Amino acid sequence: MRTPITVTVTGAAGQIGYALLFRIAAGDMLGGSPVRLRLLEIPQAVAAAEGTAMELADAAFPLLDSVDVFDDADAAFEGANVALLVGARPRTAGMERGDLLAANAGIFGPQGRAIGDHAADDIRVLAVGNPANTNALIAQAHAPDVPAERFTAMTRLDHNRGLAQLAAKLGVGVGRLTRMTVWGNHSSTQVPDPSHLLLDGEPVGFAPEWVADEFVPTVANRGAAIIAARGASSAASAASAAIDHVRDWVLGTREGDWVSVALPSTGLYGVPAGLVSSFPATSAGGEWQVVEGLELSDAVRAGIAASAAELVAERDAVRALGLLP
Ligand code: NAI
Repeated sequence: MRTPITVTVTGAAGQIGYALLFRIAAGDMLGGSPVRLRLLEIPQAVAAAEGTAMELADAAFPLLDSVDVFDDADAAFEGANVALLVGARPRTAGMERGDLLAANAGIFGPQGRAIGDHAADDIRVLAVGNPANTNALIAQAHAPDVPAERFTAMTRLDHNRGLAQLAAKLGVGVGRLTRMTVWGNHSSTQVPDPSHLLLDGEPVGFAPEWVADEFVPTVANRGAAIIAARGASSAASAASAAIDHVRDWVLGTREGDWVSVALPSTGLYGVPAGLVSSFPATSAGGEWQVVEGLELSDAVRAGIAASAAELVAERDAVRALGLLP
């Protein structure tokens, strides 16, 4: 039997956690490796997480080595090879943006420190909880001994939503499309960009008006549309995107394709170095590589700059509160 991979999931009792854990345990994320799950919750939600752990046991997944539940971050991240940071403080009525950033810095800072102190040397981190990009940045800043590029945030759901819209527009299956791109922040300033899309390996053109007036708003507002229809925010699709992100990171992206990943900028495409911003990237050997040298339209270039400005403002707000080391 292969050595189990240790996966820590925070917010395990939440709705994304409930969809995510069964996919991980079924082997969808790590290519058939056995998995040890370590679940982190706040004390009030530990009982619910234990209930999920009971159900995971009852599913008798052959690849599930163990499930343990914690309310202590140091214990939860012990030996973690993969960390999925899903638990976050949601925005509640009347909450200012600064309060939201501060509340989440209070979660992601200590979790970053616990990752730095306790995770395995090959730790790979995906922040899902919002504001995901800045939460990843905060965690990364608290784990100075972990290579910065091991901290990523999730824009894969936006990427997948874009693929779904494009497949519907073209009347084809999503599997025939490659090279969708999402740039920037996982927020309303995100830049879904279909300009490099291939259908069966061939370029497809879309009218700029359709992209600007229909495609981009549909992708960027899809989360709100799901809430309106379902009465709850995206959960299974978010979990599926997290599985896609980690699977591609660990096992590699498809030949000829790329995916969208928010990772620490090295300054490419004008995004200030250090910001966790979404780029098109391939993965091989467990390392993301940003796709360089793409030609960008003026609209995309302006969108990337605006989204980077939002990320700078988020970072500076957290820094002003003394929550970034
Ligand atoms: P949820 O509210 O159902 O679950 C969140 C869970 O996190 C709760 O069980 C809560 O007890 C737990 N939690 C809170 N603070 C914690 C802490 N310090 N440590 C451990 N656990 C903690 O929320 P849901 O629907 O599962 O969403 C989770 C997050 O994912 C939200 O922030 C949401 O905005 C975000 N999200 C991000 C997406 C993306 O594309 N990046 C897509 C969809 C959701």
